[in-house]
Amino acid sequence: MQSIKIRSPCSSANLGSGFDSFGLALEAFYDTITLELTDGEIKIEVTGIEAERVPKSPDRNTAGFVAKRLLEKKGVGVKIHLYKGIPSGMGLGSSGASAAACAYGLNELLNLGLSRNEIIKWAALGEIAAAGVAHADNVAASILGGFTIVRTCNDLIDAVRLNPPPNLRIALAMPIIKTSENKTATARSILPRSIPLKSAVLNIQNAAYIVAGFHLGDIEMIGRGMMDAIAEPFRKKLIPCYEAVKKAALDAGAAGVTISGAGPAVIAVVDSMRTSAGDVAKAMAEAFRDGGVECRACCSKPSLKGTERIVNR
Ligand code: HSE
Repeated sequence: MQSIKIRSPCSSANLGSGFDSFGLALEAFYDTITLELTDGEIKIEVTGIEAERVPKSPDRNTAGFVAKRLLEKKGVGVKIHLYKGIPSGMGLGSSGASAAACAYGLNELLNLGLSRNEIIKWAALGEIAAAGVAHADNVAASILGGFTIVRTCNDLIDAVRLNPPPNLRIALAMPIIKTSENKTATARSILPRSIPLKSAVLNIQNAAYIVAGFHLGDIEMIGRGMMDAIAEPFRKKLIPCYEAVKKAALDAGAAGVTISGAGPAVIAVVDSMRTSAGDVAKAMAEAFRDGGVECRACCSKPSLKGTERIVNR
């Protein structure tokens, strides 16, 4: 096999209390990557939405960064064609999905025999190019699909996947605001290096609640567990109208609301048996617009599928 086409879903990391630990794969947007083995260097072409914003050099593109390290000493090169379907710089795991697709595809193409956790580890390296540090929450969700928990221990990554409840829906509001080129690195740099014991306890309790909520299929529990004392209090300052948007979503019936990944998108979880995700998305978009901020909004189901090979599509 000389070439392969791979599709990877977007994801929302953290879900509030699970900073750098939780991810939820979403059907809303996908990246597609075609990898073609060559005997030359790593070459990257990017098309799709906002392709011009995506770096093309292997040291700065998350897929290229993964390919460069995975192919070291393999004596082959690769031509990467990346179709961006996931908006970049929103907090929807765009860089992670590209890295996930590349690690997954190279494992198949070169018969590397990597385990799922090893693919996640390689893909997480790509986040160094985007955020300055390897973190695996987005890539785990993109690779495994569903709701994922990652645990990093002595340089090893363990990831576990749980099925989302069938009536879980997601409302997303994506404000069109100017963010720095290294948006995720900036959003990480404003977080304190240490946190009070009280904040750690609050996040542990709430994160445990989210996991229990997924396990029990209880969306109200998932929503309540999205309280976060680690990142949201600092990052919300980067998102104009954040408190008004959060209130609008809760008033419209969302079970929980928080910043998606490093932002600026805002994610609300909704129980479709009780509330319309469309109404929640509309309420969030109106709150942004009332504050003078342009915004795109949409609804999504969680993606049960993770990264996968696609044939003739
Ligand atoms: N967990 C990461 C963060 C996700 O919040 O910085 C962003 O890539």
